Amino acid sequence: MAKPILLTGIRASGEPHLGNYLGAIKPAIARQSDYQSYFFVADFHGLTTTPRAAELKNHIHSIAATWLAAGLDPKKTTLWKQSDVPEVLELSYILSCVTSMGLLERAHSYKDAIAKEKVVKAGLFYYPVLMAADILLYQSDLVPVGKDQLQHLEMTRDMATFFNEAYGETFKLPEALTEDELGAIPGTDGRKMSKSYGNGIDFLGDEAKLKKQVMGIQTDSKALQDPKDPDACIVFQIYKLVASQPQIAEMRQKLSAGGYGYGDAKKALLGSILENFGPMRQEYARLMKDPGSIEAALKEGSLKARESAIKMLSRVRHLVGL
Ligand code: TRP
Repeated sequence: MAKPILLTGIRASGEPHLGNYLGAIKPAIARQSDYQSYFFVADFHGLTTTPRAAELKNHIHSIAATWLAAGLDPKKTTLWKQSDVPEVLELSYILSCVTSMGLLERAHSYKDAIAKEKVVKAGLFYYPVLMAADILLYQSDLVPVGKDQLQHLEMTRDMATFFNEAYGETFKLPEALTEDELGAIPGTDGRKMSKSYGNGIDFLGDEAKLKKQVMGIQTDSKALQDPKDPDACIVFQIYKLVASQPQIAEMRQKLSAGGYGYGDAKKALLGSILENFGPMRQEYARLMKDPGSIEAALKEGSLKARESAIKMLSRVRHLVGL
């Protein structure tokens, strides 16, 4: 029997941060041998913020380099960029014709945008439809995502159901895979780590920038000698995600005892990130200096992805009468 299909994407909107890695990349890589795996860079989705062309290119390379540095095996896993398989846009249009405006109006991403921005672009409103097409075009079974994407997965299942009801059983209903034991990954200000909050820890990139982010983690005003509550300390919350059990126990003890400052804890966190991700950081830096090799890997993957996309799309075209 063919292995079930695992698919996930990351929007090209900057360097992936620690939250992206722990929430989606690492769990996806860990399962790449047990599934037919499809990982992609969502560059069409990256256009919703109107980046400069050179900026978007850089974001695309950065995400692809992260996948490769994190251990993606191109022999087992298909890696490509979304825009190299334009069939996804056609499917998204067809899906939009079975999807109500009301469903899309309930998306948190859209509601957040109308609360914050003067002008909300239609592309952002349409974001969940394109994401559903990403998932359904490959008949995905399992989709590893951060918890913030659960609603989009729910909407994908709704769209698949609307289509199946209108045209007969066609799409599988995908399941989300989230890392429950992780909980929410806090960013430098204690809110959920998110690119849109600008509170990420860019664990792979430039060391000076990483240091600045870690040193900028918010803390309360307790003095060096004061005992501190580890569970209320953001530095410790993040340390728990990257350090070993004995290291975690040691920091917990030191913070509680007093005489150990937040600055000390931040240095330990930085050291732990540099040590744990040392080889991955090196590989990431090497790839980013060689964009040609990233492009070549993406091209090769797109040929495989496109082959199965074309098959599925021609089935859908036939079903709807095009
Ligand atoms: N919305 C996801 C993010 O913000 C990216 C994404 C686009 C995605 N299409 C997808 C994730 C399909 C999983 C499956 O990172």
